[in-house]
Amino acid sequence: MTAKIRYGVVGTGMMGVEHLRNIALLPDAEVVAIVDPVATSLGWARDALGDHAAAVESFDDVATFARTAQVDAIVVASPNHTHRAVLDPLFGMDAAILCEKPLATTLADARWIVECAAAHPRPFWTGMEYRFMPPAAAFIEQIHAGRVGTLRMLSIREHRFPFLPKVGDWNRFARNTGGTMVEKCCHFFDLMRVIIGSEAVRVYCSGATDVNHLDELYDGQRPDIIDNSFTTVDFANGVRAMLDLSMFADGAEHQEEMTATGDAARLDVLIPPGNLVFSPRVGFRGEKRVERTRVAIDPVAHAAGSHEGATFFQHLAFAAAVRGEAPVEVTATDGLRAVEIGVAAEISAREHRVVDIAEVRALDASDA
Ligand SMILES: NC(=O)c1ccc[n+]([C@@H]2O[C@H](COP(=O)([O-])OP(=O)(O)OC[C@H]3O[C@@H](n4cnc5c(N)ncnc54)[C@H](O)[C@@H]3O)[C@@H](O)[C@H]2O)c1
Repeated sequence: MTAKIRYGVVGTGMMGVEHLRNIALLPDAEVVAIVDPVATSLGWARDALGDHAAAVESFDDVATFARTAQVDAIVVASPNHTHRAVLDPLFGMDAAILCEKPLATTLADARWIVECAAAHPRPFWTGMEYRFMPPAAAFIEQIHAGRVGTLRMLSIREHRFPFLPKVGDWNRFARNTGGTMVEKCCHFFDLMRVIIGSEAVRVYCSGATDVNHLDELYDGQRPDIIDNSFTTVDFANGVRAMLDLSMFADGAEHQEEMTATGDAARLDVLIPPGNLVFSPRVGFRGEKRVERTRVAIDPVAHAAGSHEGATFFQHLAFAAAVRGEAPVEVTATDGLRAVEIGVAAEISAREHRVVDIAEVRALDASDA
């Protein structure tokens, strides 16, 4: 590898451009190739690259890129349902890979990616970047340091804006996204696994499409993606977690709120602005001893994306793995586990029943 990490970015829509803007902030890194079948998207990438665009090779198909490009690291930011086909030729390259979440839309594809990643000689990383959002990272660190005592309950709320329009409207249909519980909520299922330090055993999800997309039609088809849900997840170590998702709450002050409650205290994180609220137990009518702190986010990293600096900090960690200086923090198996919980939640919401993770793991790959 040269002194600078040479990056290729595959898929240059909204997230691909966010990656380009963040790679530009990294030390000893340069983008040398971009890949997208849609000319408008390549134009967005060139705009983001600015003066550097002239030095960057453009490809309209991943197979030609894989045959000819000289890169050390590749970021895959194509639509969810394309990840397997896009990764197929990339696994033949001598380059590290960061693949956006969700790893895949089906368990069959996610398992295939895990197998290929295990055989790949270079690092493979799943883009679960919410772990790297500075307030979320501080929340995780404090829980792991024992600040709440023994963790018993974890609740995560995301109340946000509806899904944005995408290139070709791929995100309107579960066949392309895996369904909302896979597509969006894999981030939160990943956070649950990291925070709780255990694996999910059963899931109950109540969810539906109640407000968004009801008047939208694409080639005569109505979107089939959940826009609100409550999901409870039981973990093997006895910790219980829940996710409260609303995609029609764009007026909410905090897009994400997470609360960890242990036998000694409760810790909240409110994002934005990144406030941590620590509430130790004080007994019945005891005087409250609430402590509030704010986790600062580097303004340059914050401005380079719409994920509270997460994309930048994930890239710093990925670059360290590419250089062999640090381990892969989010593996392909982590990506698979988050998809499993999402698939279980999708089945649960559709069939109105509790779904064991063991049932999902036993599903015939083609049914998943
Ligand atoms: N980490 C996060 O928080 C986050 C946020 C948004 C999106 N994402 C993920 O990033 C990926 C891209 O999402 P987006 O919002 O940028 O969508 P988008 O529609 O804005 O962009 C996707 C781009 O991929 C291109 N594309 C389609 N097929 C391709 C192929 N075979 N090879 C190369 N490019 C191809 C499209 O032309 C488009 O330009 C998805 O997997 C999505 O789930 C992650």
